[in-house]
Amino acid sequence: MSLFNVYPLFDITPVKAKDVYVYDENNVEYLDLYGGHAVISIGHSHPRYVSAISNQVSKLGFYSNAIQNPLQVALADKLETLSSCKDYQLFLCNSGAEANENALKLASFHNGKSKVLAFKNSFHGRTSAAVAATDNPKIVAPINAQQDVNFVELGDLISVENILKANQTCAVIIECIQGVGGLDESTTEFYQGLETLCKQYKTVLIADEVQSGFGRTGDFFAFQKHNITPDIISIAKGMGNGFPIGGILIHPSIKPSFGLLGTTFGGNHLACAASLSVLEVIEEEKLLENAIDISAYFIEKAKELPRLKGIKGRGLMLGLDFDFPVSELRKQLIHKHHMFTGSAKNPNLLRILPPLTIQKKHIDAFFVALKKELNS
Ligand SMILES: Cc1ncc(COP(=O)(O)O)c(C=O)c1O
Repeated sequence: MSLFNVYPLFDITPVKAKDVYVYDENNVEYLDLYGGHAVISIGHSHPRYVSAISNQVSKLGFYSNAIQNPLQVALADKLETLSSCKDYQLFLCNSGAEANENALKLASFHNGKSKVLAFKNSFHGRTSAAVAATDNPKIVAPINAQQDVNFVELGDLISVENILKANQTCAVIIECIQGVGGLDESTTEFYQGLETLCKQYKTVLIADEVQSGFGRTGDFFAFQKHNITPDIISIAKGMGNGFPIGGILIHPSIKPSFGLLGTTFGGNHLACAASLSVLEVIEEEKLLENAIDISAYFIEKAKELPRLKGIKGRGLMLGLDFDFPVSELRKQLIHKHHMFTGSAKNPNLLRILPPLTIQKKHIDAFFVALKKELNS
């Protein structure tokens, strides 16, 4: 049987990884400045993570959501402490798209409305309502297009209000910093205005923190910089450091009832053990502080680069915006310098999404390689 060929692949076969390095079958070492697309938070194969998962699978890897699972409770408690999102409720699932799917569904249950407001250049996943709220017609199939979604320019509160006042929109879904779209972020005034409008028109505000959450920006959640309180926060990627897990944090004003949401695999023992160990390492190794320090170091060094139009993003969700398309540069970085970087919808943006454990010496090595390529 052949694989369904949907991914353009780099000709590299990683077989093991350790912290910020990935190794191929010939033991060639690659510096991972991509983190498997913002997934690797505490570093590859962190010993704490490996033993948490190994111990758990040797005891109980999975049982259904019909029984007590104290690991879910422990995960919810630890998440509340580290995120400072007091009194939210946690529903666990398996991926980012699923988190957003549940967030949108819950919003619609909550207020009985059915339209969605999303933003230009957004990415929220590839499933039903999540892909409909994604601003990329190429990945929206006719079956998804049945969802009624309005797309508004990021920062345009007037258009938001014009739509919300028709009283048909169940949710506004927003990435506080757009990931795939290219790291755009609006002003605090905009995010606070959005929160006010959502309250005024009884619309659920969903913060999609699938990519930006779990410390990636140096805050636990990216929206916290703007001092807002979303009704639902969706999480995934960094949450499991590669183990598939996602979830939504639900404000106490939204009440649960039996059967409202559900999943077979979501919140299983193994996934909870993985995510708990991620939170423990984030706390003990002060990875949010590290994200802020290394980010400042990176930004300072980037200022010396030729052909750079701007530096986008914050924390370790960064992008170098050049005056040329970066696809060739990314290939050179991989094949000549053995460094993984990321791309975005904007072809000129080189994305940097490393494990939050990255150190200055890795950034130094990256800039040596990058300058060599830019000057050649
Ligand atoms: C902001 C955001 N939301 C949702 C998703 C979808 O997550 P997943 O691929 O786990 O379904 C992504 C994936 O890149 C994302 O960046």
